[in-house]
Amino acid sequence: MDSKFYITTPIYYVNARPHIGHAYTTIVCDTIARRQRMLEKDTYFLTGTDEHGIKIERAAEAQGTTPKQLADDVSNAFRATWDRMEISYSDFIRTTEDRHKTRVQHLFRVLRDNGYIYKGSYSGQYCVFDELFVDSAGPGEPCPECGRPTETVTEENYFFKLSAFEDKLLKYYSDHPTFIQPDTRRNEVIAFVKGGLRDLSVSRSTFKWGIPVPDDPEQVIYVWLDALANYITALGYGESDPKKREKFDRYWPADVQVIGKEIVRFHCVYWPAFLMAAGLPLPQRIMAHGWLLFEESKMSKSRGNIVRPDTILEVLGADAMRYFLLREVVFGQDGSFSFDALVQRFNADLANDLGNLASRTLTMIGRYFKAEVPYPQAKAALTEADVAIGELADKTIAETNRLFDEYQFSKALETAWGLISAVNKYIVENEPWTLGDKSDNDSRSRLGTILYTSAEALRIVTALAYPVIPKSAEKIWTQLGLGDVRKVRLDQLKWGQLEVGTKLGKVEPVFPRADKSAIEKMQKLEEENKPVAAAATAEPAGTGAQAGQPATQAAVPAAPAPATAGVTPSSGKITIDDFAKVELRVAQVKVAERVKGADKLLRLEVDLGYEQRQILAGIAKAYEPEQLVGRKIVIVANLAPRKMRGLESNGMLLAASLGEEGKPVLASFLEDVPLGARLK
Ligand code: MSP
Repeated sequence: MDSKFYITTPIYYVNARPHIGHAYTTIVCDTIARRQRMLEKDTYFLTGTDEHGIKIERAAEAQGTTPKQLADDVSNAFRATWDRMEISYSDFIRTTEDRHKTRVQHLFRVLRDNGYIYKGSYSGQYCVFDELFVDSAGPGEPCPECGRPTETVTEENYFFKLSAFEDKLLKYYSDHPTFIQPDTRRNEVIAFVKGGLRDLSVSRSTFKWGIPVPDDPEQVIYVWLDALANYITALGYGESDPKKREKFDRYWPADVQVIGKEIVRFHCVYWPAFLMAAGLPLPQRIMAHGWLLFEESKMSKSRGNIVRPDTILEVLGADAMRYFLLREVVFGQDGSFSFDALVQRFNADLANDLGNLASRTLTMIGRYFKAEVPYPQAKAALTEADVAIGELADKTIAETNRLFDEYQFSKALETAWGLISAVNKYIVENEPWTLGDKSDNDSRSRLGTILYTSAEALRIVTALAYPVIPKSAEKIWTQLGLGDVRKVRLDQLKWGQLEVGTKLGKVEPVFPRADKSAIEKMQKLEEENKPVAAAATAEPAGTGAQAGQPATQAAVPAAPAPATAGVTPSSGKITIDDFAKVELRVAQVKVAERVKGADKLLRLEVDLGYEQRQILAGIAKAYEPEQLVGRKIVIVANLAPRKMRGLESNGMLLAASLGEEGKPVLASFLEDVPLGARLK
């Protein structure tokens, strides 16, 4: 095994207990890791917890505990959940471990010695929720990423010369077109870097919960520098003893680093710049996935709409959750979770399709062939239907492998399940049970062929599905009388490898059907486990709203029709009076949410200072609702109300329209402006 594969998950903040959004990332990585092992790659799979920073310090304070205690509790909870979920990680790193701390300090020294760190003073806004310096926000303004209020920070800090990497990064992205995937994320990153990079403050002096800056213990290292470094510290980066550094020398650079889309900037801009500055190679690929939504909005603790993996594990087991998430979510895009959909998928695909194929095939071999895999007929005697299954199986192997390699998990599973459906249909059409009692040679050999064909297809599908549903696949594999499913070489899998005479194991149902009570049970478990109180000040469940704004509920203005202002046909120009008819005003977003069944629309409640009103805007593809809350925007305030999707829109917001797709970018102000101010 001389080729290696190194894969990482982000490390999870310890201010929130694991929910299935976290589980999703981890399951994706686990599936990739398991597949790579079945391709004979020496695979190293890293996960862990991100335990420093002001966000954690405050969360601990809010819970009346110490940061260390909170970190221990939650980190243990993550690890325990990963274990229950059959996550085959090679190492679980905690950023409070000594091995991490000393190696991060080493990295800091290297960056400093290489001339990329200097001391300066920072005065600006900081978003505690994102642990992000927000250069674009003024005092009192919300974070453009999450909409939460920012805090003004004035400190003497160490700075990293991020600005020195603008051109180098852009060149790297262009020389390595698959470095950032999918392309939408890549384009966003390129646009961000092209917009200019400012040096980054990489230390903080106003709190203590972090790794001390070497030679300046008054300062702690910025939590994102600390956290990103985990990907190399876990391997032994920074150790001079070759034995301790062995893994780093073997596995770095990572082959793929999987992240959620909200942390793309940290991984695709800061992280590569740190690595370049340290003279280290960059990861082969950063792969960003979408969000798991629950009832249309991002699952997150602050919104209180989380589902805990434990709930599903308890009622349906790990494989149900793993299969559902990979089958239902199109990798790279947002996906929805609901208990109904979970149970439906479980019953249809696992209990019915795969479960039935396994139980009827294995039971009949047990009954009619003393639990030994029977002979199929010679090639010439096979029917068209027998041959078709063999051919479909080989095609399915190739196609499923390709799709998995492209991280198209949903399609890969759909393809593999296509074979299951075909075989189930084949069994029904060939009615092997009608041949069971007949002892003539023809009937026996037909029966043997049908059951061999079914069992061989079952073997193939089980091997292909193993990385997604390891426990169940292992059970089926054992019932098929085969050894260790992990030993299968996926790139060598092909039709006809099942040996005649293989003695089956004990046949038992693998996926007992779930009924309605499963949904109720899960809902009940979630209710019982609802967090008592929001933990951190970093997560105000609401808004970046400014204090003291009167929020009068009110009336609906009536006025002219949609968008395009009056253009006089003769000259193409309008008079000042024409323009004066359009009442443009500053409003602040108080509430933003998706509209069910309309993937482009957001429903906003905006405050004009003198009244609040509802507006529907077609910007859902460009903005996440939580990004907007607290933000000041410009609206046409005297537009006639209009109904969309049964909801009334009382105004229209202004946005620039970019590119062919007309991507909206909201109009906004650099200076602070009072609500209701008129634009003229
Ligand atoms: N600690 C940072 C990452 C540092 S990596 C050097 C962090 N932690 S997090 O716990 O907030 O989120 C970690 C990851 O969990 C996200 O990037 C994403 O992969 C996953 N998810 C968290 N919520 C999610 C959803 N609702 N849906 C899908 N994935 C989500 O960011």
